[in-house]
Amino acid sequence: METKAYTLCDFINLDCSLPERVSLFEDKFITQLNREKLNGGWMSSIGPINTEMKVIDNYSQERNVISFISNNYLGYSKHPSVVEAGIEATQIYGCGMNAAPCIGGYSDIQKKFENDIAQFLHCEDALTFSAGFNANCGPLLVLLRKCDIALVDMYAHSSVFEGLYNTNTKIIKHNDIGYLEKTLLSMGDKYKTRMVIIDGVYSQDGDIAPIDEYVRVCKKYNAMLWVDDAHGIGTIGETGRGAVELYKALGHVDIITGTLSKSFGTVGGFIAGSHQIINFLRYHAKSNIFSTAPTPLTIASAQKSLELIQSDVYQREKLQENTHYFKNKLTELGFDFGTSQTQIVPVKVGHEIKTGRAARALLEKGIYVAAIIYPGVKKNDARLRFVILASHTKEQLDYTIQALIEVDDMLSIRKPVNELCICD
Ligand SMILES: Cc1ncc(COP(=O)(O)O)c(C=O)c1O
Repeated sequence: METKAYTLCDFINLDCSLPERVSLFEDKFITQLNREKLNGGWMSSIGPINTEMKVIDNYSQERNVISFISNNYLGYSKHPSVVEAGIEATQIYGCGMNAAPCIGGYSDIQKKFENDIAQFLHCEDALTFSAGFNANCGPLLVLLRKCDIALVDMYAHSSVFEGLYNTNTKIIKHNDIGYLEKTLLSMGDKYKTRMVIIDGVYSQDGDIAPIDEYVRVCKKYNAMLWVDDAHGIGTIGETGRGAVELYKALGHVDIITGTLSKSFGTVGGFIAGSHQIINFLRYHAKSNIFSTAPTPLTIASAQKSLELIQSDVYQREKLQENTHYFKNKLTELGFDFGTSQTQIVPVKVGHEIKTGRAARALLEKGIYVAAIIYPGVKKNDARLRFVILASHTKEQLDYTIQALIEVDDMLSIRKPVNELCICD
């Protein structure tokens, strides 16, 4: 009987040929998923992704579910004026720009969006990319070199770590300002640039970085500060400017990156900073220079979402209200959602397979939630990541809580456990 619970990392550094590696992956990992019916992450949606939607996977017929997988926090992906702006731009400019920005694919609407997003974030300039991933990874690869060092929060997004191949890296303890200060002090002036890189809102735990403290320490030790606020912009801060605004630090952060795929409801990403940094990137960031400009739809829809973020406080308040409602119920019932301070609500289960089973059991009850496992999070810190949206209804949240109670009766998920093995 198979006793090992395989994780994705078991198949990365195997000392055998590529055909052997992929074959082992199929035999061990995919077989494990199929045995447990855990392949939910690759389920297909049928029709639009909404709080109620239709899905199908390899193991069952199509079904209607209440969904917690989307990052369309404010509902702008389907907001009539956001959709209309995208359609209108498509009719005028076409479906694609069909050239990289630096050789002619740079439209007037992209230029305007970059000006406006920079202003919104109190930065001098901004540059847009076809994905949020590329807005972190591409700039980091060219901004930081061998004479520099990146001090990166251990839970920063993967797109940051992918950008660090050309520089020195020091992983810093999560949200631990004392540790950062000690590290900067001991480092002295060994490196030409010290770049502290954090998320505004952490994507798997939903907690917020104390940006004011980071600003204070970075100023004291002459370090630069980079904040990836993919999940905070639009959702927090008095006027939706994100974690940096929440901590009254607008104008004090060197670089802010973000995505258009969450609050903005479309796809793409941006980096904002000084004129000089952005100008340097316009000529050096390969994920921009060697990649076709974002589609007109993307840019025009994002522009409209940016306007709505500034005028439509209701959706932001509704998001907070829904999040509090859901978390209060979880707290009353003794479910553990860790350090979350936002709409990202990780119900901690612990063991990978048990988390997958819980996600499957919820699916059977009509709830679609992502099981986040290693290496997305630490080993044995797997969780069901509920992403709350402004558009969820109280009835949907109540139904979900009831389903969680029933799944807990079957699988005991209320307190995280981590010693389960696959044959249990
Ligand atoms: C913190 C963070 N940064 C960057 C990204 C990448 O954004 P995109 O999906 O637009 O590539 C994500 C995506 O989930 C994220 O969570």
